[in-house]
Amino acid sequence: RLYRIASIPGDGIGTETTDAAVQVLEKLAEVSGKFAFEWDHVDWNSKTYREIGSYIPPGGIERLKKSDAIFFGACGWPDIPDHISLWSLILPLRHRLNQYVNVRPTRILRGTSSPLSSCVADPSALDWVIVRENSEGEYAGQGGTTHAGTPLAVGTEVAIFTRPGIERVMRFAFDTAAGRPRKLLTMVTKSNAQRHGMVLWDAVYDEVRAEYPDVAADRMLVDAMTCRMVLRPRSLDTIVATNLHADILSDLAAALAGSIGIAPSSNLDPTRENPSMFEPIHGSAPDIAGKGVANPVGAFWSAAEMVRWLGQGEAADRLMEAVENAAAKGARTKDLGGQSGTKEVTDAVCKELEGM
Ligand code: NAI
Ligand code: MG
Repeated sequence: RLYRIASIPGDGIGTETTDAAVQVLEKLAEVSGKFAFEWDHVDWNSKTYREIGSYIPPGGIERLKKSDAIFFGACGWPDIPDHISLWSLILPLRHRLNQYVNVRPTRILRGTSSPLSSCVADPSALDWVIVRENSEGEYAGQGGTTHAGTPLAVGTEVAIFTRPGIERVMRFAFDTAAGRPRKLLTMVTKSNAQRHGMVLWDAVYDEVRAEYPDVAADRMLVDAMTCRMVLRPRSLDTIVATNLHADILSDLAAALAGSIGIAPSSNLDPTRENPSMFEPIHGSAPDIAGKGVANPVGAFWSAAEMVRWLGQGEAADRLMEAVENAAAKGARTKDLGGQSGTKEVTDAVCKELEGM
């Protein structure tokens, strides 16, 4: 099988971790012997924006639709306001390709460790999947500014929650929970303070929940949820939350599992009408860009999730096994307390794949 993958490295360490992931994916294809990749290297980044005033050139979305999946690095650079880079590239891609769920697994990989003392003795205590609503909510793009630049400036940021939008992500989350050993789902809102959209989330949760008697479900307010993640990690398994809340909770989850540098995400169009997009959750990290020290594991894990989505579950497991073996043998970047650079970790993972 030949898979056509559009790779968009973007900016900063996005280019370093994407290069590393492409190298590891090529090795994975070689050792599996069952599939191969055909790459469409897409060079949209902040440089494109400076040159032509947009990140996505005309016809760009159509180009991506020709691929089986998209692999993304990160976008954003300090000379361009972050709301412009985000709203010019990653958010339009998610919206235009109907990628309405963003799945973020988090666990403590073998060979790495958590800053939580409760997880040091037993790393299996933290094994979560965060299901993030990826199409509306607080990132719907509604709002505006009046009297801009004056002392009377007013900015409105309107969150949009629709019943179909909530229902489809809620069903996806219940299905995800039902497919995991513990069959546990926690739904997160802030429906005490936000009394319209969040209350609608609660109502849809009650309805959908009735269809899944095998899933033990509960709900939490997002502020209390942060404490529970830190204090009682084992009480959680699958988590569903809005675009903003899940964005924040997944960075916390990544840090609790060891580092933001390991965390993957899958932007899925579950209807499979459009290609889905896989990316590490970290950004372009200008503070460490160009130094060869970025942790490529988040990109590798995202690559494994991509391969799984394409139907090659065995190869995905093999890649994660190689990543964990390499880490256990000491191939770890600084953020994980190690000494290795991006290249050493990448070479170590390729070597593990060869030896398997
Ligand atoms: P960031 O994730 O780029 O960096 C946060 C901190 O984590 C930094 O200290 C960085 O060095 C460290 N870090 C991140 N990834 C790492 C890795 N793989 N290995 C080792 N250390 C790592 O977030 P920040 O600084 O808030 O944003 C930087 C730029 O990235 C901004 O322009 C922002 O808008 C953009 N961004 C883009 C995203 C995307 O393209 N999906 C997501 C998040 C931020
Ligand atoms: Mg984020």
